[in-house]
Amino acid sequence: MRALIPVAGEGTRLRPHTYTVPKVLLNVAGKPILGHILDGILAANITELTIIIGHLGDRIREYVTTYYPSLNVEFIEQKERLGLGHAIYSARTTLNATPTLIILGDTIFDANLKRMIESTYSQIGVKHVDNPKRFGIVETENGFITKMIEKPENPLSTLAIVGIYFIKNTLTLIESLDFLIRNDIKTRGEYQLTDALQIMVERGEKMCPFLIDGWYDCGKPETLLATNHFLLTRQAHNTYREGCVIKPPTFIAPTAIIEHAILGPNVTIADGAIVRNSIIQNSIINASATVENALLNNSIVGNNAIVRGMYKCMNIGDSSELEIT
Ligand code: UTP
Repeated sequence: MRALIPVAGEGTRLRPHTYTVPKVLLNVAGKPILGHILDGILAANITELTIIIGHLGDRIREYVTTYYPSLNVEFIEQKERLGLGHAIYSARTTLNATPTLIILGDTIFDANLKRMIESTYSQIGVKHVDNPKRFGIVETENGFITKMIEKPENPLSTLAIVGIYFIKNTLTLIESLDFLIRNDIKTRGEYQLTDALQIMVERGEKMCPFLIDGWYDCGKPETLLATNHFLLTRQAHNTYREGCVIKPPTFIAPTAIIEHAILGPNVTIADGAIVRNSIIQNSIINASATVENALLNNSIVGNNAIVRGMYKCMNIGDSSELEIT
C-alpha cells in the first residue's frame, strides 16, 4: 500500500501567495495544508509515500523531510504540468502491483481512510453536489461505478469526485494512463485522471463510490478561509493573551506577539507574527507577518508581509486582492 500525493501545480487561484509559497504549504488552522494530509496518512498507518512535486518543489521536499522523518517518501518531479493524469503517470516508477491511495494535495478530508483502504474493490471518494457540471462525476448501478466523466455538459448524477481514490489494481491504472498519453487523449487540454479511471471501468475494473462527508477544499481564498474555520472548530486551543479579547475558535502560535487586539472568531495567527492594536476575524495571518492598527476580515496575510494603518496607506504587490467594504 502506497499513498500518492500530487502537488506539482502552481496554485494560480491563490496568487499572490503561491508566487512564493507552494499552495500545500499555506497555513490553515496552524499547520500547512500538506501537514493535515500527512497526519491523516500516518493515522491510517501508511508509511510508503510518493509526492509529485513541480512548482516550488524544493520547499515541499524540505518541509516533509524535516517534519515527517518517519515517512518513507520518494519525490518525483513532474517536469511539465500536463494534468493530474500526467502527474500520476510521472510517478509510475514508484508504483507496483500493490494498491495505491491517491490524495490531491489541496484538499483536506474527514474520512475513514482505514475503511477505504481495507475495501475489496477500488473506491472513488465522492460527495453529492448541487452543481455537478463543475466536477468530475460518477454514474452508478447496483453500487458499482458505470461511468466517470470530467465536467459533463448534461450530468446524469450529482456524485462529484472529490480528490481521494483507492486504486486496488495499480498496474491497470498505469496501463490506462499509458493508453491516454500514447494516444494523446486530453479533456480540456489536460491528461485527466478521470479519463484513465473511465478506461479502467471499460476494461472491467470494479469500482465503488465512497461517500465522503467532510471535504474541505483549499484551492481558492474563500475555500481556504472556510477550511480554516472548519478545522479550528474541531480543535481546542489555548489562546489567552493578557489585555486582548480572543473569540474562539482561534489559533495563536506560541511565538506570536499579540498586543491590544481583538481576535476571532476563525482566526489563525502563525509563528512569529505580530499583531498590535488591531481587530481581526475570519482570517489567516502567516508566519512573521505584522499587522498593526488594522481592521481585517476575510483576509490572508502572507509570510513576512506588513499591514499597517490599513485605511491610510497601502503598498500592495502585483496580483494582490484588496476589498474595502
Ligand atoms: P488543481 O488544478 O486544483 O491545482 O489540481 P493547481 O493547478 O495547483 O491550482 P490552480 O488551478 O492553478 O489554482 C489539484 C491537485 O493536483 C495537482 C495540484 O498540485 C493539486 O494538488 N496537480 C495538478 C499536479 O500535481 N500536476 C498537474 O499537472 C495538475
